[in-house]
Amino acid sequence: QKGGYKHFMLKEIFEQPKVIADCLAGRVDLAAGRALLPELASLPTPERLFIVACGTSFHAGLWGMYLLEQWAGVPTRVEIASEFRYRDPILLPGDVVVAISQSGETADTLAGIRLARERGAKVIGLCNVVGSSVARESDVVVYTQAGPEISVASTKAMCSQLTALTLLALSLGEITGRMSRQARVDCLANLEKLPSVLEAELPRMRERAAVLAKTFSESSSFLYLGRGPYYPLALEGALKLKEISYIHAEGYAAGEMKHGPIALIDPRFPTFALAPVDELFPKVKSNLEEVQARGGKIIALTNPGSDLRVDHVWEIPKAWGPLTTFLMLPALQMFAYEMADYLGKDVDQPRNLAKSVTVE
Ligand code: F6R
Repeated sequence: QKGGYKHFMLKEIFEQPKVIADCLAGRVDLAAGRALLPELASLPTPERLFIVACGTSFHAGLWGMYLLEQWAGVPTRVEIASEFRYRDPILLPGDVVVAISQSGETADTLAGIRLARERGAKVIGLCNVVGSSVARESDVVVYTQAGPEISVASTKAMCSQLTALTLLALSLGEITGRMSRQARVDCLANLEKLPSVLEAELPRMRERAAVLAKTFSESSSFLYLGRGPYYPLALEGALKLKEISYIHAEGYAAGEMKHGPIALIDPRFPTFALAPVDELFPKVKSNLEEVQARGGKIIALTNPGSDLRVDHVWEIPKAWGPLTTFLMLPALQMFAYEMADYLGKDVDQPRNLAKSVTVE
């Protein structure tokens, strides 16, 4: 069942090229620069979006916000479902809630859906499991097509959620007229290239992750930093590390460093930075210089052409715009995986965790 892999988690990390291809299948009209999501045809164009989810799915949602606001111009708010459900949210006619859940059975996310519908909002369920509660209780469902995810730690499901959110942002970007046809064509063409780029890169990524995990196996705490769409990825990198290797990790927006966490930096507290070569690169670079000035060790995931001078420069290919995310996410997952495996932890069944959280 593990297809020759030592753990389901590793198998599922390696399945991501296929997951992206499956999620795109039948949903791309390249010539028209159109993302095809016929599921959404019955819904009005949202005036505002609320994304509601938990854990890794919440991180996917937070990433989606950057694309939805920039490409589609739809005001988007992302909330942890357990907060949303109890805070008396203001929902107006024209608001649409996107509930993201791999399992489709997460109690808090379901409660968020029920609350949203009671208040008259339409709900899009972004979900992996056909016929699940989220699928049944949402007004419309966009399936993420990741296939069954066995490992408790979610990996390929997030990749599929990011793919579906990209399609949603493209589709709304066309409807609102905010995203040009050329930009949509470029994005879709590059999305379609991702599976082969990723496929070629994954074995190399794993080797590098294994070496780095060994190097840092005695660290008891990590700081993950990112900006823009890579901030949610920093949160996700930290979550993966803590849940399977039991090493404390915190994800932070890189710009928040000087507002507190920088006090923690010393030679025993490493930083894992997401530093793609994009318009925010100079900002991340200067944050990392501040870490270095305090003796902090740094692993930086970056792209060719970066002039970063840090302890461990980890180069991965650059993709179009925020699509570099799809290449950085598996590197974060692999690092956590290799760390947990090196430390002898139960990778697929981490202590205290369940695959689907059906109680609040
Ligand atoms: C982390 C993880 C959890 C889930 C969360 C939501 O690796 O798996 O944080 O993402 O419990 O689950 P779903 O997406 O099934 O609602």
